[in-house]
Parts: sequence; C-alpha cells; structure tokens
Amino acid sequence: QHVASGKSGDMSRNYIEDRAAKSQDTLYTTSNGAPYPHPYEAQRAGTNGPLLLQDFHLVDLLSHFDRERIPERVVHAKGSGAHGFYKTTNPLDDLSCADIFQAGKECPITVRFSTVGGESGSHDCARDPRGFSVKFRTDEGNWDVVANNTPVFFLRDPAKFPHFIHTQKRNPATHLTHADDSTVFWDYLSQNPESIHQVMILMGDRGIPDGYRFMHGYYGHTMKLVNKSGEWVYCQMHFKSKQGTKFITQADSASKSPDHSQKDLFFAIENGDFPSWDVEVQTMTAKEAEELWEKQKINVFDLTHVWPQKQFPRRKVGEFTLNENAKNYFAEIEQVTFNPSHLVPGIEPSADPVLQSRLFSYPDTHRHRVGPNYQQLPVNAPRVPYRMANFQRDGAMSFYNQGSRPNYLSSIEPISFRNRTVDLNKTHGSFTGDAVTFLSEIRPEDFNGPRALWEKVFDDGAKERFVGNVSGHMANCTDKEIIKRQIGIFREVSDDLATRLEKATGVKGYPGIANLKFNGTHNGMASDSSLRAAN
Ligand code: HEM
Repeated sequence: QHVASGKSGDMSRNYIEDRAAKSQDTLYTTSNGAPYPHPYEAQRAGTNGPLLLQDFHLVDLLSHFDRERIPERVVHAKGSGAHGFYKTTNPLDDLSCADIFQAGKECPITVRFSTVGGESGSHDCARDPRGFSVKFRTDEGNWDVVANNTPVFFLRDPAKFPHFIHTQKRNPATHLTHADDSTVFWDYLSQNPESIHQVMILMGDRGIPDGYRFMHGYYGHTMKLVNKSGEWVYCQMHFKSKQGTKFITQADSASKSPDHSQKDLFFAIENGDFPSWDVEVQTMTAKEAEELWEKQKINVFDLTHVWPQKQFPRRKVGEFTLNENAKNYFAEIEQVTFNPSHLVPGIEPSADPVLQSRLFSYPDTHRHRVGPNYQQLPVNAPRVPYRMANFQRDGAMSFYNQGSRPNYLSSIEPISFRNRTVDLNKTHGSFTGDAVTFLSEIRPEDFNGPRALWEKVFDDGAKERFVGNVSGHMANCTDKEIIKRQIGIFREVSDDLATRLEKATGVKGYPGIANLKFNGTHNGMASDSSLRAAN
C-alpha cells in the first residue's frame, strides 16, 4: 500500500517497482502525487479560450508522453524475453571457481531473444541471425552471456562491425532494407570473404528459426575458465534447446505474423509449456589451442571458425527454464542490459579481438540508451547475498546513491574486500601474438567449414533452397560486379555451388578470389594458399 511511513529516510515509497501493481485501490494523481479529479480535463480560459500554462496536469502529461521512447538498441532492436531459473546439474568446479558452477547451485535468470538488423517494430521472420542473451543473477554478481543462434559470425576484425551493420540496415539514399535493395548487402559480403561461413548458414535452411523456443544458442567467442588453483582453460558455451530446432522456409515466412516469435514464446509460457535449454561447454587447454593452430589452422580467437566437436566434445553443466513472462515489457525486457563484460570470478574473456571490442561497446551503449545508472534498475540490479559497496555516485536517476557512506576509500569508515585467491589474469602471451596478425587476411581454411556445410550437411532439397534464397535476394542487387565477386567467393566453397548460382542469376562469376582485390587492397589469400590452379 502506498502509505507514507512518516520516517524521513523513506522518501520513495510510491516509486519502488511493484511488479504486481493492479489498478484496484489506487487513486488518480499528478506525478507529484496530488489527487486530480479526472484524466480528461484540460484547463482553459473561459469557454472557448486558450489553454492555461498553470495546468501542470496537462503539461506534465504531454511532456512525459513526449519522452516515452528511449533509444532503441542500435542492433537487435526487435526482441522478446522472459524470466526463469538456471541450475547446475554437473558441476564444473574442476575447471572454474565461479560460484554458479559449483554443485547444486541455481539462480534466477532473464533471457532476451532478438533479430539483428530490423527496427523495433520489424518482422520476426526476417532472414537474419537471432540474438540469445542470458543474465544469470549469481551469488557473486550478474553474469551475462550475449550470444547468437549461430556458432560463427560475419567478421573477425571489430573495426568492420559498424560498416557491416550499416549494410544490414536501411540504405541512406533509398531508405529501403536489403529485402528490396540488396546491393550494399552483397557489396559488403563480397568484399569481406571471411563472412562466407555465416552467409552459408544465413542463406540456408537455418536462416529463419521458427520461433525462439526452437533454436540453440552459441557464444561463438572463446572464453576462459579459471579454477581455484589459478589454472585456466579456453571454453566455448552452447545452449541446446530441449524443444529441438525448427526452421521456416522463405516462402512460408511470408504468411507469418510480424510478431510470430513473440506470440509463440509468450503464449507457450502463459500456457505452462515452459521452454528449457541445456548449458554445455567445450574446453581446450592452451597447448591444444597452439596445436589446433599449427595443425589445422583454426585460431581460437577467430569466431568465423568453430571448434571441431569430435576433438573437443561438449560437456553438460546445467540447464535453464523460462517460466515467467514479463509483467511489464518495457521495464523488464526493453530496459534489460546484457553485456559481455558483466563477468564473475572464474569466468574471463579471451583475447578474441571482437570479444574485446564488445567488452567496451555494450556498457558504452547502455550508459547512452538507458542512462549511467542502468545497473540500478530492478531488472539489471545484482541480487547478491552481501551489501554491495563502491564509489560510483550521482548521475541521472541515481536511485541507490549509497546513503551517507564516504564516496572515497576512507580510513575512518573502511569497507571490506575479499582476498584475491587466484590470479585471474594469466594470459597466453606467446600464442596471442602469433595467432592474430592481419585480421582481414583470407586463408584457404576459411572455406573448410562452409564447404563441409555444402557437401556434407545440405541435402539436395537444402541445396536447391539455398541457391533459390541467394539468387532471389540478389535479384535486386543492381551491380553485376558485386554478384561476380560473390560467386567467386562461393566458388572457393564449391564449384558445384558457384555453377548453380551462375545459372540461377544469369551472371558469370569470377573463377575464385586469388586475383581479386578486397576493400581496395589485395588480401585474397595467405601466401601458402593451395588455391585452385584455374586462378
Ligand atoms: C546487441 C555491439 C558482435 C550478440 C548489441 C548492441 C551493441 C552491439 C551496441 C546493443 C546493446 C544494447 O543496446 O543493449 C556489437 C559489436 C560487435 C558485436 C561492436 C562486434 C565488434 C556481436 C556478436 C554477437 C552479438 C559476435 C554474438 C555472438 C548481440 C546480442 C545483442 C547485441 C544477442 C542483443 C542483446 C540484448 O538482447 O539486449 N551489440 N556487437 N554481437 N549483440 Fe552485439
């Protein structure tokens, strides 16, 4: 009940987030709490006169309405989310000292799924990767996994990310998306061949998931797990859907609701059909990572490649279930902030350059999108069994400003520290330097994964649909040179694929990429390339 306590310290009672708020037993007031007779009552001078500036009720109503929108996410703007819980079923304490990985540990979670390129009102059935973010509210702080539904990504040089994303958004000249104007979409991809693995997934049957319940999640980035002795391993994280996976074809997507995935998730949870996922890890020692680079030219810091699962089998750690819809979408899903640098002791980032950039970019956008005190919002606030203390103060909307505690490291009123038990920052010095050099360089190995998809994973029907999806999408690409270049990249994957695309598009592509210049410089292939003789 909203009753003043009379205590001077209890000043914000009405604005404490009340997720169960109902309209019964409330009183209509202005935002400063004064009772007001009716919401529809503008004050005017006389019967037909102008409005009154003194009418705070109307001025406040309109000016708050004017400010209802916060900036939408620059990517992943359209999304759906829910709450649930995670439980560790198979402890990982041998590899990580993270509290959440110890036997029997569990914690509440919030998950947000999304498409990537479209605006907040865009179609759920876009051919686009899907975001899959999980906030684990552990006893040692919030740990966020900000993942996608595909194990690889379009790039390995973070400086390309804003350029790449611009080509997925509306063309600044035509204001059309790539569904109607695909020239810049293919211009970017055909200039940056390391995108090919992700392109093969995007344009194939896995390109349009049939709702968020029916997809897996993959971090893609290599992480590090550190145990209580300070030993560390590299790690890949997977979320495996217990519902299995389901996809829809391009043709079928046209008949779906723009909110297909939102509806599916919301009503499944509402009806008690709670979706769940297994949490699994692949792990690798530093020595194995060096051998993987030396023998198979797979760099663990390059998220355009996957870790072979036969060599590095998946190991189940736990599972999570979504069993509660948001009571208020804006407060609990729009304002939730997932961030790859929200880590907890025992889970560390690797030197992957794209991950390293993300560690900066997300909290930076959160300060702008939600505000500098975004961590204080109820959905983002840590729920730890100790009283948190730090020296961050003030700023817009500082609801929890840490009272009268000193705002510096005081000797008069000291705070306590947990002793550092292990060195969490041990790096893999020699390897880091050797493995990542010129990030745009294309190597023959970049085509192994895509080739395996074409030759071993896609059946005849999948191949046909793939060629139809690519050629259909290229139909409104106005520059033949771009198509020729992209077919050259597809030819590095498979002659068969490139030949089929030449037939479907009516454009004769380049015979491969060795003689092509990308982004104005030649970075076609590394010198030891075993390129096709034809080039
Ligand atoms: C959202 C940047 C790569 C997954 C975002 C946002 C930014 C961003 C600024 C908006 C966040 C917000 O407003 O809350 C970047 C940059 C990248 C990158 C700079 C590379 C240099 C990736 C990769 C993945 C990924 C590789 C997946 C493995 C996501 C997801 C979201 C997101 C799932 C939505 C989070 C949510 O639901 O709130 N990214 N991103 N991003 N990104 Fe990235």
